[in-house]
Order: sequence, then C-alpha cells, then structure tokens
Amino acid sequence: MANEKPVKLEIDGKFFEFLVTKGTEDEKSFDISNLRSQTGYITMDNGYANTSSCTSKVTFLDGEKGILRYRGIPIEELAEKASFLEVSFLLIYGYLPTYKELEIFKKNITQHTLLREDLVKLYDGFPRTAHPMAVLSSIVCAMSTFYQDSLSITDPAQVNLSITRLLAKLPTIAAFSYKTSIGQPKIYPKNLLDYCSNFLHMMFATPAEEYPVPKEVSEALNLLLILHADHEQNCSTSTVRLVGSSGANLFAAISGGICALWGPLHGGANQAVMEMLEEIHQGGGDVKKYVEMAKDKNSKFKLMGFGHRVYKNFDPRASIIKKACDKVLESLHVHNPLLDIAKQLEAVALKDSYFIEKKLYPNVDFYSGIIYSALNIPVNMFTVMFALGRLPGWIAHWKEMNDSSTTKIGRPRQIYTGPTLTHYTPWDQRVVSDQQQILSHSPDNALGVRFKKAA
Ligand code: CMC
Repeated sequence: MANEKPVKLEIDGKFFEFLVTKGTEDEKSFDISNLRSQTGYITMDNGYANTSSCTSKVTFLDGEKGILRYRGIPIEELAEKASFLEVSFLLIYGYLPTYKELEIFKKNITQHTLLREDLVKLYDGFPRTAHPMAVLSSIVCAMSTFYQDSLSITDPAQVNLSITRLLAKLPTIAAFSYKTSIGQPKIYPKNLLDYCSNFLHMMFATPAEEYPVPKEVSEALNLLLILHADHEQNCSTSTVRLVGSSGANLFAAISGGICALWGPLHGGANQAVMEMLEEIHQGGGDVKKYVEMAKDKNSKFKLMGFGHRVYKNFDPRASIIKKACDKVLESLHVHNPLLDIAKQLEAVALKDSYFIEKKLYPNVDFYSGIIYSALNIPVNMFTVMFALGRLPGWIAHWKEMNDSSTTKIGRPRQIYTGPTLTHYTPWDQRVVSDQQQILSHSPDNALGVRFKKAA
C-alpha cells in the first residue's frame, strides 16, 4: 500500500489536503477521518456506494472487469480445484493450507459437529412454519449462551474454538431446522462423511432409511458453497464487522450477518428468483411481460437475480453457475422448465436497452436456485445455503477486524432533517397531526382511539 500525493479539496474558499491510500490493485481512496474536525463538513453517501470502511486483504473484486479473487486466487481456479473447507482455511487464515494443516483443520471441525442436547431443545420452541433463516440466526446467537468457554475475542485459543464450532455446527443447525419444519426426526452428523456429504445426509436421511449421497450432488454443493464463500464488504459482511466492532462475541456478530443476508435484495434473492420464475411459468411463460414490468417505474417489480452494486459487466460467479447448472441437471437427469424460463428471461433482458444502459446482468443468485432445486433443497432453505457458504467469509472479515490495532467501533453520522427545538406539550393540548395516520395503523387500537379523542 503506497501513499500517493494528497488530494486537495476546496471547501468554502479554503483548501484542505487528504491523504491518499492506494491498494495493491491500484484502487484509490482519500482518508477523510479529519474532515469534520478540519472543515465542519461530513460526507453523504447513500448506501455507502463510495465509502471504504476498512482496508482488507481477504477478497479482491473488480466489478467492471468481472474479477473475483479470494486472497489473490481467481474464483474460477478455486471453483474448479478446491474443497470448501480448503477455501474456508484460505479465507480465514490467509493462505492455502498444507495437506497436514488441512487434515487437522478438517478433523477439528468434524469433532465439533454435534450440538449440545439442551441447545437442540430450543427447536421445539419455534413454530413449525418458522422461516429457517430466523431459526438459523436465533440458534447461532443462542450458541453464545451454551458455549461460554469460547466467548473471548482476545484469547486466540478461544477465538479458534468459536471459529471451529461455527464451521462445524452451522450445517447441523441448518439441517435440524429443515427437519423440524417438516416434522421429521433430526438426523445426527456422521463424521465419516465429508463436509458437504454430511450436510446432505442430515437433510435427506431418515432413521428408517439411509441417504447414500450421490457424488454429483455433493460436488455441486461444494461448488456453490465456494462461490458464495466471500464477497468483500457486502451488506451481511459489513453487518458482521459492525456488530463485531462493538466488541460483541463472534456468535453474536455472525447471527447479525445471517439476519442481514436474509433480505431479498441480498441472499434472499435466490428464493425470490425461484418464486418469480415459478410465477412466470404458472402464468404461461410470457417472459417479455415481466421484463416490461421490471422496466416500469410504477410497478415496483424488479427482475430478481439481476443487477449488482459492484458488477457492471458480468458476475463471474453467475458465469460459473450457469455452466454448472446445465451439467448438474444433465447428470442428475433432471428437467426443470424453470431453467428454460430463466434462459429466455436472460436472453430477452440482455438485449433490452434498459438493462444494457443500467448495466444489469444476471448475478450469482439467478441460476443458483435451479441447482439447489435439482439437489432437492427446498426453496425456503436457499438463503440458508447461502449462509453456509458465506460463513468463512464472515469469519475472515471479523477476524481481520478483530486482529487489527486500528479498528474503531462503527458509528456513522447523519444529517438531521427533523424539527428544530420544540417544547413538550401536555397531552390534552396536542392537536391532530400526521401521527394520527401512523396510529391508525397501530396494532394497539386502544392507543389510536385515546389519541383521537384527546385531539
Ligand atoms: N430489475 C429492474 N431494475 C433494476 C434492477 C432489477 N433487478 N436492479 C436495478 N435496477 C434499476 C434500479 O431501479 C435503478 O434504476 P434508476 O437508476 O432508474 O433508479 C438502477 O437499475 C440502479 O439500481 P439500484 O437499485 O440503484 O442499484 P443498487 O446498486 O443500489 O442495487 C441490487 C443493487 C442488487 C440491490 C439491485 O440490482 C436489485 O435489487 N437486484 C435484484 C435483487 C437481487 O438479485 N439481489 C441479489 C444480489 S447478488 C447476491 C448478493 O451478493 O447479495
């Protein structure tokens, strides 16, 4: 990281200098840490689209060129050659493990796959219809109550124990939430199986019947998890860093990341894509109608699985998944009409000037749901699969933040646009205001009635 000539800004007729930081891939930023104290101004950056919140050595991404590298290694190479646990080690510890290191790492993870039995009892408290992402995030947060011997964020041994526990237990937690939702007995982990096969076994075996995991299925899962393993400062990773910046324990930070991932604009997009493709299919397959709807500003409809904050030419993960999709469906002898719809939709959108001008391309979630369906993963588990994949990335960023001597608690500012100084009015002198409308939506109707009478 070399320091460049400072940037000069003219503010209210005076010049101010800001130090420039250049990354190893020539990305440039200027440091505004002293902006407010020097000038009285702060910056406004809706959605943080122009703000770097940290320096990071984990993942490099060039959205214009469609480049994604974990610790410098292209995603295409990792997708072709690596195992998910190897990639997890790479992301978290910063280098590719030796054979022996990987064996130890795997053995440690294998030995922590079980959940405490009293933690398993928590599943009985959730409604059967609960979304598995809600269960996942709740159980992960609850880990901080059951595994109190690894809550320290300063003791490296405890940190490593928490990391191992999370990587080992997340597949168990996810599969248990699925089994609970369908009313089947939970299937305990089988430590002879590899990471992906073990997860699939817990999902699909029953006490009455074994599930011999097809090789194509565990390989496809391995690929999908690698593709999702990290994506630098996205919404959920930034959430993990933000929660962690307060000194909260790792389980709490990861639980926050799972909640952030849940939304349809982020990891929840894979579920939303499948629901959209199903709707188009059920409605007769008129893809053009949906492309038109996505362009119509009044419709609020978006083409799910399209567009990305940083990729403006193509998402390299989507290119890999599209190829894998054809291969997986063929080897499993699955014909999914939704794949045909997805391809038609992509072809129409990519020729449309709206999508071309706004640089909207299929993202990682456009085709991932179709593969997950072919693997028999239910739609409401898709975002959980994304969380399983993203876990090592979240941990790597949390660790980088936690190990850094320059980390500060995350605390953005705001430009206040509310009322200026206003004084307290006794309730019987208050006039009807816009708040009345808010209260009319209040679930506590009695409150609304009292307010209206008083006014
Ligand atoms: N369909 C139709 N129009 C779109 C879409 C879409 N999928 N995505 C963006 N636009 C339009 C948007 O309306 C805006 O138009 P205008 O400039 O006229 O206001 C313009 O393109 C720029 O979009 P934006 O929403 O300002 O861009 P953003 O960077 O804030 O949002 C995004 C990125 C991914 C949230 C957005 O493209 C989107 O909502 N896509 C659909 C949801 C989705 O697939 N999310 C998964 C992302 S990949 C998985 C992950 O890493 O989380």
